[in-house]
Amino acid sequence: MSVLPPIARRAHIPPFIAMDVMRDAKGLAREGRSIMHLEVGEPGAKTPRLVREAAMNALEQDRIAYTDALGSPELRSAIAQHYKDKYGLDVPASRVVVTTGSSGGFILTFLSTLEAGQRIGIPAPGYPAYRNILKALGVEAVEIECRAAQGHVLTAEAIEAAHAQTPLNAVLMMSPANPTGVVTPASAIRAVADTCKRLGLWLVSDEIYHGLVYADANREETALRFSEEAIIVNSFSKYFCMTGWRVGWLIVPERLVRPMECLAQNLAISVPYLSQVGATAAFRATEELEAIKAGYARNREILGNALPAMGLAPLPMDGAFYAYCDITRFSNDAMDFSRRALHEAGCAITPGLDFDPIEGHRFVRLSYAGSEATMIEGARRLKTWLR
Ligand SMILES: Cc1ncc(COP(=O)(O)O)c(C=O)c1O
Repeated sequence: MSVLPPIARRAHIPPFIAMDVMRDAKGLAREGRSIMHLEVGEPGAKTPRLVREAAMNALEQDRIAYTDALGSPELRSAIAQHYKDKYGLDVPASRVVVTTGSSGGFILTFLSTLEAGQRIGIPAPGYPAYRNILKALGVEAVEIECRAAQGHVLTAEAIEAAHAQTPLNAVLMMSPANPTGVVTPASAIRAVADTCKRLGLWLVSDEIYHGLVYADANREETALRFSEEAIIVNSFSKYFCMTGWRVGWLIVPERLVRPMECLAQNLAISVPYLSQVGATAAFRATEELEAIKAGYARNREILGNALPAMGLAPLPMDGAFYAYCDITRFSNDAMDFSRRALHEAGCAITPGLDFDPIEGHRFVRLSYAGSEATMIEGARRLKTWLR
C-alpha cells in the first residue's frame, strides 16, 4: 500500500479562465470547427522583423548563455533610455530589473515587498493573475472596486477608505487597464502616488499596455513621474508583440535592487539570453509597431460600432485592446454566456468572472488584438447568435 503525500495548499489557486477558454477553443478548432479568437490578450501580429533578425544573428554568432540575474547591461541601458525618450525621465540603468515577462516581475515584486499575511489593494475588475499569484504567496488581495462612480479607475479616495477599514501594506494600479481598457488620468495617478506616500504603502504600477492608447487626449502617464518609490511593471509582450519571448522589466527604487537580484539569481538565474537580445532591438522597431497599432485602432472601430448595435455596450475603449461589455440584457451568468458563445456561435470570449469576483458575472471581455477579418466575422457571428 502506498500513501500519497498531499498537494500543497498554496497550489490550490483558481485557473486563469481566459487560458482555459483558449485551450477549449483550440481544441474545437483541432476538431475542425471554425473559431473566431477574441479571448486572449495577445497580439495577432508576428514579432517585429528587427527583433527576429537580432535574435537570429545572436543564435548564429553568440554563446547562448546566462546573463546577470538583473538582465544584460545592453537591455537595461536600452530600457533606461526608453524612459528618457518616451517620458523625458532620467532613470539609471541600475534601477532596471529585467524579468521573465511582467509575470516574473510580479513574483519578484510581491516577494520583495510583502510578508505572508499582509494586504495589498488591487483593482476590481483587474488582471486575474494578481489575485491568484498573491493567493499562492499567502498575501491577501483586497479588491477595491473601480466602477462607473469612480470613472472605472482606482482612486485615492477608494484606497483611503479600504485602508481605513483594514490597513493595507501596498496598492497595485494598472493603466491602461485589463479588462476595461480604461486609461487613468495623470491627475488620478498623482493622487494615488501621494496617498501611498502619505500612508506608507508600496505602490506597484502595471504599465504593460503603455503604447496602446488611441486618443491623444487620454495619453498614458507613468507613476514614476510622481513617485521615485513606485515599482513600475512593464513588458515586451503587448505593444512590442513579444508574448512568447517572455521578457519584461521593472523599475524599482535603489534599495530594492539587491534583494531582487538575490531573488532573481535563485529563482531563475537569468531571463533567456535570446529574448533579451531581441528585446534590446525592439525599441528600434517603432515603425512596424505603429503600423500594428494602427490595425488595433481599426479593429477598435469595428467592435466599437458593432457591439453597442447588438446590445453589448462596451466600457470606453480608451487603451489596451479590450472591449469589456455588459451582458445583462442577455444573461446574468457570464460563464454560461461565454461557453455558449464558443459552442453555438464559434466565438471565443472571456467571462468577466476571470477579472472580477464581485460583478464579473455581468460582463464579458473581447480582445481586438487579432486580425481585422476576425473582428468582422466575430461581430457578424455574435450578432446573428444574439438576434
Ligand atoms: C494587465 C496585465 N499585466 C500583466 C500581464 C502579463 O503579461 P506578461 O507576463 O506576458 O508580461 C498581462 C497579460 O495579459 C496583463 O493583461
